[in-house]
Amino acid sequence: MLTSRGDTERQAFLRDKSIKEVGDGANIYVTRILSVLIPRSKLLDVGCGTAHIIKRLAKRCKNLLFIGLDVSPAMMDMARNNTQGLTNVELVQGDGLELPFKGSEFDVVINRLADYSPSEVYRILKRGGYFFEYGLGPDADQEIKEFFPNRYEEENFFLPKDPVHWRKEIVEEVSKVGFDEIKIEDYRRKDHYRSKEEIMDLIEMVPLVKDFDREKDSLKVDDFIDRYRERDGIGITWHFYILRAQKL
Ligand SMILES: C[S@@+](CC[C@H](N)C(=O)[O-])C[C@H]1O[C@@H](n2cnc3c(N)ncnc32)[C@H](O)[C@@H]1O
Repeated sequence: MLTSRGDTERQAFLRDKSIKEVGDGANIYVTRILSVLIPRSKLLDVGCGTAHIIKRLAKRCKNLLFIGLDVSPAMMDMARNNTQGLTNVELVQGDGLELPFKGSEFDVVINRLADYSPSEVYRILKRGGYFFEYGLGPDADQEIKEFFPNRYEEENFFLPKDPVHWRKEIVEEVSKVGFDEIKIEDYRRKDHYRSKEEIMDLIEMVPLVKDFDREKDSLKVDDFIDRYRERDGIGITWHFYILRAQKL
């Protein structure tokens, strides 16, 4: 039984549009993953979404095999479109909490902002294999949190529960299933959105704001833009971490 239906068709459309128009902010993540790939590595992206990460990796490493898994049929359609012609990419519809693979099958498993099970990732990794997770730090989207204090959808994007000891929380989650050599690096930056539409797409896509309605909340978004407009656009804080762990 699937534990989740994953993202809707609308979310898949908005995520794909946003990645293509605003970017995926994943350069450091991709660099870190590339640094451990060796000839014949086999990599799985759990909750691959539109497949933008494996597409970048597969274009760089033509002889390695990249598998994208997502539970959402809409995301799978989007991922298929985005990876057409890449013969080293395979897509599997499935549940990140119960991975449909045998033990010790992968050299690298990655996960970016999607539901997953640390023990399942550990099970399917070979000895010596690496796990990378890209997640959000507690300061992410602080402007939205500040502006919509009672409607902010914290649950939707796996913010760490403890804003002070969040690194410890994350390390514990992977160490308790057996991972070693755990390292976390985190980065903060401002993303600048150029239009009201881009802001609305971001809020609706995650979604970041409870019961968000583009029409009813239009004036509120205008106020938000007035408050957070900077020289380069509407500034929203992006705080992410990259975890690297190894199965020894
Ligand atoms: C925030 S998106 C991130 C997508 C992608 N990793 C990226 O970086 O753009 C979360 C993704 O997780 C998928 N998802 C949610 N629950 C899942 C589950 N139980 N198993 C697999 N995928 C899941 C959603 O369908 C969606 O594509």
